[in-house]
Amino acid sequence: MPKKTLADLGDLKGKKVLVRVDFNVPLDKKTGAVKNDRRIRAAVPTVQKLLDAGAAVIAMSHLGRPEKATPEEKKFLTLDKVAARFGELLNKPVKKAADEVVGPAVTAAVAAMKPGDVLLLENLRFDPREQKNDHAFAAAIAELGDAYVNDAFGTCHNDKDASMVAVPANLKAAGKPRAVGLLVAKELDIIEGLMSAPKRPVLAVMGGAKVSDKIAFIQALLAKVDHLLIGGKMAYTFQKARGGDVGGTKVPDDELAAAKPLLEFVGSKITLPVDCLAAKSDDLNATQVFEGPIAAGFEGVDIGPKTLAAYSEKIARAGTVIWNGPVGWFEMPAFSNGTKGIAKAMAESTAVTVVGGGETAEAVEQFGFDGKMTHVSTGGGAFLAYVEGKKFQSLAQIDDR
Ligand code: 3PG
Ligand code: MG
Repeated sequence: MPKKTLADLGDLKGKKVLVRVDFNVPLDKKTGAVKNDRRIRAAVPTVQKLLDAGAAVIAMSHLGRPEKATPEEKKFLTLDKVAARFGELLNKPVKKAADEVVGPAVTAAVAAMKPGDVLLLENLRFDPREQKNDHAFAAAIAELGDAYVNDAFGTCHNDKDASMVAVPANLKAAGKPRAVGLLVAKELDIIEGLMSAPKRPVLAVMGGAKVSDKIAFIQALLAKVDHLLIGGKMAYTFQKARGGDVGGTKVPDDELAAAKPLLEFVGSKITLPVDCLAAKSDDLNATQVFEGPIAAGFEGVDIGPKTLAAYSEKIARAGTVIWNGPVGWFEMPAFSNGTKGIAKAMAESTAVTVVGGGETAEAVEQFGFDGKMTHVSTGGGAFLAYVEGKKFQSLAQIDDR
């Protein structure tokens, strides 16, 4: 790691460390409860290490997109519940700071902190200045800490978030050190290794709905991988773009256009499913497996059994497998066989296995295979952007060793 990590921060006894974490976790729509605490768990080792070194930790995160939320939804976006869960995982009370993100009450709370204390600032996006990379807002946050740690891998691609860019810039101006945390260091090491010197053959499995969202990612993968196996909704986009009949499966025109430049790779680097499970659009309980054209009135909901067998066999023989995007509508148990099967094949393979993207990570966890993967990234958009080779402003702010 060419960047400073925790060990490079020097003596932390009695110091206050600002730690940007990504606690942007999925919430239960009805109760606002934390539905999945993976991102909170992932930040614990860094925070624990800082506490063990005698520091106090001022943690900060965004949650959701409050600027787009209704007042009803916004109520759930306060970090109280996240602070409580964080405290359970750390085995000590975590205080959520005042309702303001920065201001006199927060300054006072920070002044009262002792070594071993943990304070979580309120949802950074409650202050509109966060997403404008605002200098004054960042300066007020930066003033609270003696050092800065970025352990928010999932947010590293956000170039205009003050907590990611302007805050560490302010610490630098004040001569205070900036490092990456253990999670970010691990994510970077693994993804970099994956892209620079992977064990071959390298296989990527891609699913999800939109080709258009992932075109740069797919192109970056094509330059690196030996094979790209397609599943999920995008498989029907490819099928239709090649002139195949997809029955009642909805494929928007802009998706067809996005898939066109990739068609030349189909049959060589890109493999499409040979069969699919489809359900009647007006009765999802009526399902049928199709090889080739999908009948009218049916829509594709999962890869079929022949496809799963063929993909599983390729996964078993791979040196490295990168997976992004569920291959079917896995939230519906009847349509989850493909996604579950891919997760199982990866878990059983001796290949280096890396899973990226929020939904895919959730699926792997739901089926109980997360512990059997080499790495499950905490990044969604950040994972895609890093694999694409994008340079992150947030990481440019971290001191070199
Ligand atoms: C994510 O989950 O993608 C990160 O937490 C960033 O959140 P955002 O997509 O709302 O910027
Ligand atoms: Mg995102």
